[in-house]
Amino acid sequence: MRPNLSSGTGSAVGRPAVRRPAAATVFGQHLGDRWSAGAGPAIFGGMIGYVHGHHDSVLKSHRTRTAENSAGHLLPHLEAGMSLLDIGSGPGTITVDLARRVGRVTALETSEEILALTRAEADRSGVEIEGVVGDVHALELPDDSFDVVHAHQVLQHVHDPVTALREMKRVCRPGGLVSVREGDYHGFVIAPRTASYDTWLTLYDLAARERGGEPDAGRFLLGWAHRAGFTQVTSLSSTWCWSTPEARQWWGDMWAERITDSALAQQLLDGGHATRADLDEIAAGWQSWAADPDGWMSVLHGVILARA
Ligand SMILES: C[S@@+](CC[C@H](N)C(=O)[O-])C[C@H]1O[C@@H](n2cnc3c(N)ncnc32)[C@H](O)[C@@H]1O
Repeated sequence: MRPNLSSGTGSAVGRPAVRRPAAATVFGQHLGDRWSAGAGPAIFGGMIGYVHGHHDSVLKSHRTRTAENSAGHLLPHLEAGMSLLDIGSGPGTITVDLARRVGRVTALETSEEILALTRAEADRSGVEIEGVVGDVHALELPDDSFDVVHAHQVLQHVHDPVTALREMKRVCRPGGLVSVREGDYHGFVIAPRTASYDTWLTLYDLAARERGGEPDAGRFLLGWAHRAGFTQVTSLSSTWCWSTPEARQWWGDMWAERITDSALAQQLLDGGHATRADLDEIAAGWQSWAADPDGWMSVLHGVILARA
């Protein structure tokens, strides 16, 4: 099920306030102030952890993504023969679509295991890509290597997005394009709004911040890009909209499964933030919303296109 796509202009705002759960402890280490100078805590080689994990329920969502519905802002700038780096390629559907347009794509993921998902999608589609394992905070790639450096829904999960953007700028050739699109969870709009949705949002926000992420990344992209040294940045917003019975069912089922079965569920249970009964109640809330003919949801994303 693919979302309806619409876009409009919007602008991002400045530096985010430090907000995290009072006693945010991740794998036994206190997070500290991730916005302070320096690269922050070095956990998993700079990555604190990816809140969603790669459970089937997560992949089910990410595999609906295409270059059209997730990177439409970038498409007019692509030409055959360009070289493109796709950071955090995950299940690889966007990567493969981009590769069909430019020809030369390098996919980067945090482990061989996750990169295998991208490679499998490329094989299935008969598209050639190169794969590398790495961390966006410290790319082991030469300066000025790519015409385009792309990331979709990645910077919201990293502990130092400004360092990540500096690295993206460094490996992009001068005059090339850095393209990023990130969700903004508090910018999501839903009808009818229920207590169960509010609990879901509170728990998701808590889990994402506990892992060192910024779930409202979309609104901060422009400010992060300025701090990373970009001077020519176009900042936009775009949305996905879930409103037809089929789309609503698909999105509601997917979140019902993710809140009960994915890495997110395990984190909330292990951290004592929710009980199994709480998660089951939230899942039931998603399913009731999906079954409601009046159910409607719009998912906001911030976008930047920045000249390196
Ligand atoms: C939400 S998924 C997005 C996948 C894909 N871009 C898409 O939109 O379908 C985020 C991906 O970023 C990767 N990731 C997380 N932290 C990263 C880091 N520090 N460096 C590179 N990739 C990272 C995760 O492994 C995950 O596959």
